Amino acid sequence: MEIVLIILFSYMIGNISPSYIFAKKYKNIDIRNVESGNAGTTNALRVMGKKVALFVFLVDFFKGFFTVFVVKYFWGMDYALVSAVFVVLGHIYPVMLGFRGGKGVATTLGILFCLFIKEILLCAVVGLTLLYIKRYVSLAALVTLFIVNIVIILFNNPLHYAAFTFFIFCIVAYKHNENIKRLINHTERKLGEKKS
Ligand code: G3P
Repeated sequence: MEIVLIILFSYMIGNISPSYIFAKKYKNIDIRNVESGNAGTTNALRVMGKKVALFVFLVDFFKGFFTVFVVKYFWGMDYALVSAVFVVLGHIYPVMLGFRGGKGVATTLGILFCLFIKEILLCAVVGLTLLYIKRYVSLAALVTLFIVNIVIILFNNPLHYAAFTFFIFCIVAYKHNENIKRLINHTERKLGEKKS
């Protein structure tokens, strides 16, 4: 019974979409119909500028961080990992927004900073360097979220921890399928690049 409540709680927290709420409230638009159509930080940056994008990132990040923090504190690591999967699913497929949400990067980062701080800090350095050099947010995010699974194993965590984080990576990567196609075709937009 407890696990069902944890799943529901995590999924519903995931449904909170700051980019959607801000775009609706202050611009009266549905961010999912503008630019890339993604309800996330990168698209918030395109549509609403730096300050709002930072706020969107922080809310998405901390909804992941605090949800798994609370679950880990009361029920332990294994339940926190289950919670992590559902907060990401809630963000990507929110029932409250007709199952059209974001791509899960900021929320997954929040989860990883809570549960695997050393591992994600190491990978974030790689991701940020890649972002600085290549300027593709999607590429930097996907590489970071992929290599963190390897680092989790190398840091001697139980293997099933990496199985959960890899499963989350697969969901996030699946949601980036259009970005991946564009990266392969060299048509992915760089950070700050306007639509051509
Ligand atoms: O995580 C979002 C980012 O990787 C790509 O966002 O809006 O360019 O599809 P967007």
